[in-house]
Amino acid sequence: MKKHVVLYKKLSPALLARLGDQVDVTYIEDPASDGLARLREALPQAHGLLGASLKLDAALLDLAPHLEAVSSVSVGVDNYDIADLTRRGVQLTNTPDVLTETTADTGFALILATARRVVELANLVRDGHWTASVGPTHFGTDVHGKTLGIIGMGRIGEALAQRGHFGFGMPVIYHSHSPKPAVDQRFGARHCGLDEFLQEADFICLTLPLTAETTGLIGARELELMGPDSIFINISRGKVVDEKALIHALQTGQIRAAGLDVFEREPLEPTSPLLTLDNVVATPHIGSATHETREAMARCAVDNLLAALRGDRPQNLVNP
Ligand code: DGY
Repeated sequence: MKKHVVLYKKLSPALLARLGDQVDVTYIEDPASDGLARLREALPQAHGLLGASLKLDAALLDLAPHLEAVSSVSVGVDNYDIADLTRRGVQLTNTPDVLTETTADTGFALILATARRVVELANLVRDGHWTASVGPTHFGTDVHGKTLGIIGMGRIGEALAQRGHFGFGMPVIYHSHSPKPAVDQRFGARHCGLDEFLQEADFICLTLPLTAETTGLIGARELELMGPDSIFINISRGKVVDEKALIHALQTGQIRAAGLDVFEREPLEPTSPLLTLDNVVATPHIGSATHETREAMARCAVDNLLAALRGDRPQNLVNP
C-alpha cells in the first residue's frame, strides 16, 4: 500500500507526478487559514508532510500519529520544534544549497536599492516629479569600496561576500560564532566581535537563522552602535531584529536606510510605519523567489521526502 503525503505547497505538474507515482497525495491550499480544517482532517492519515510557511505546532502534530517525515520547502526551520519532532521520531528535512545564490542576489539587490535610493527615485519619475536634473537632496551613497558587514557567515553569507569582494571591491567583515579561515583567505575577510563589527560596517547584512539565541539580536543598543551612514539589510528572519527599535532608528536618522525582505510579522501590515519611510525598501520575503530556484527547492523537498518514506537517509536531514 502506498504511503500518504499531505502537501500544502503547490507543486509543478512534473513534481506532482513524481510524488504521486510513489505516494498518495492530499493537497491542502492555504493550510494556515481557510484550509486549516481540511489539514486537521488529513493529518491522521499522513506519513509525510511537504510544504512551507506553516507553524507545525504540537497540537497539529498530535493529530498525525503515523507521521514519519516533514519536508520543508525552505532552508529556514524556525517553523518547527526540532526537539519535539525528534522525540516523536519524525524526520525533518530542508532545502539548503539550491537557494544560496538567489538569496544572495536578493541581498545585493537590497544593498543597491537602498544605497542608490532606487525605489524612491523610480517612484519620483513615475509620479511625474522629474522636472530637472537631480541635485544633492536626491543623491545616494556609493556601494563599491564600502565595508560590507555580514552577520552569520553561512552559505548565503559567503555568497554575499563573494559578490561584494569580487564584484564591488568591498572590504568584508563578519560576525559569527567563530572565525572561518577559508572565508578570510578567499575574500580577505575579517572576523569581528559584534560591537566592533557594528561600528565598522557600512552595510550590515543579516544572513543568520532564527534561533532562541539570535532572536532580538539587533535591538536599540546595537542600532545605536551603527553610524548615521550605515545601511541595514535583513534577508534572514524579522524576529532577529527589534522592529520597533529599527523603526525609531530609521525615523530619527540614527541609521541611513534599511532594505528588508523579512519582518516580525508576515505579511507586513499595510499600516506598518516602515511603509511610510522613504529610506526603507521593503520586499515581500522574496529571498529565494525565482522560477528556477523555487522549482529546485520543491524538487529537493520531494526527493528528501521520498527518501525518508522509503527508509533511506534523506540528503538534507535536519534533526540529529
Ligand atoms: C527559506 O527558505 O527559509 C526562505 O526564507 C523562505 O522561507
